[in-house]
Amino acid sequence: LATDTICSISWQKDFVKILDQTKLPAAEIYLECRNVEAVAHAIERLCIRGAPAIGIAAAMALALEAQSSKSKTAVDLINQLASACVRLKQTRPTAVNLQWALNRIMDKVRSRSSTDISFLKSLVIKEAMLIHHEDIENNMKIAEYGQTVIPDPATVLTICNTGSLATGGYGTALGVIKRVHAIGRKISVIACETRPLLQGARLTAWELKKAGIPFKLITDSMAGYFMKVFGADLVIAGADRIAANGDTANKIGTYSLAVLAKNHAIPFFIAAPISTIDATIHNGNEIVIEERSPEEITAFQGIETAPVHTDVWNPSFDIVPSKYITGIITERGIIRRPFTKGICRLCCRN
Ligand code: MRU
Repeated sequence: LATDTICSISWQKDFVKILDQTKLPAAEIYLECRNVEAVAHAIERLCIRGAPAIGIAAAMALALEAQSSKSKTAVDLINQLASACVRLKQTRPTAVNLQWALNRIMDKVRSRSSTDISFLKSLVIKEAMLIHHEDIENNMKIAEYGQTVIPDPATVLTICNTGSLATGGYGTALGVIKRVHAIGRKISVIACETRPLLQGARLTAWELKKAGIPFKLITDSMAGYFMKVFGADLVIAGADRIAANGDTANKIGTYSLAVLAKNHAIPFFIAAPISTIDATIHNGNEIVIEERSPEEITAFQGIETAPVHTDVWNPSFDIVPSKYITGIITERGIIRRPFTKGICRLCCRN
């Protein structure tokens, strides 16, 4: 049941090593990010992506900033870290894990009365490592809870990439799938390619292949017809931000899957760590949806696929209203309806 060998991000003391996901599956190329700007750039370009993974990347970027800081006083160091946070928070607005990780470190640093610079620096680095470590542990727990909702045998449909690449290790929705396979149950996966950047085709298919899990790749627009013709036992997706009422932001296309699942009476689950829950917002309308460059839609790998100056709408995520969600699988258990009550109960616990 151990974790797999894929490592999307690691701390190398002088730099953060990031597996460049834009190059997968053709090549496994690692970036050496030596400062905040390099990590911020890697997040913006989706070299590292997936809500938990970008939270870890931001935390490690802050650790680099602390480590190389020339600040002479604690106040200066804290101010320096705070400006690094501003830059990092600008990279991707929807995944709350990014803000969560940075706020967690800053709260820790600010709560120390110590003015010893080297102590504060090591505190930042330690906390970043802890965030990474805890994410893997949480994913293992999510997988453990999640396997209870998967029948045997099962056909499970998923979107985007929620595996080792998108997290500190193992994965959330994909982690549940991996666990079911690892304990010897029969599972086959229907992976949606995930337009426009093909995280499903490039990354999930790559991870499933490595794990030896049977899968079929479909385009996003085939999901409805697949459900009608073959049926599916379950849809399971990850999340970038979950509001207090359970409304969930995830990769564009997830909303369509949820509506289709409802129409075909297929249970629809979200798998995500508690750090993806933003209990400060009431519902999905308050979630900021990142809009990305039109070129992601008008061109593919440098080749234009639409006429020049074509007007484009390119939201990176959509919101699944909680009424479509059967359950939210977290490291503290599965939250079921009424979500507001369940989310409050799990989030208030420390
Ligand atoms: O744009 P991406 O690739 O960062 O989008 C990722 C997703 O939507 C994932 O489903 C989500 O972040 C959860 S990853 C465990």
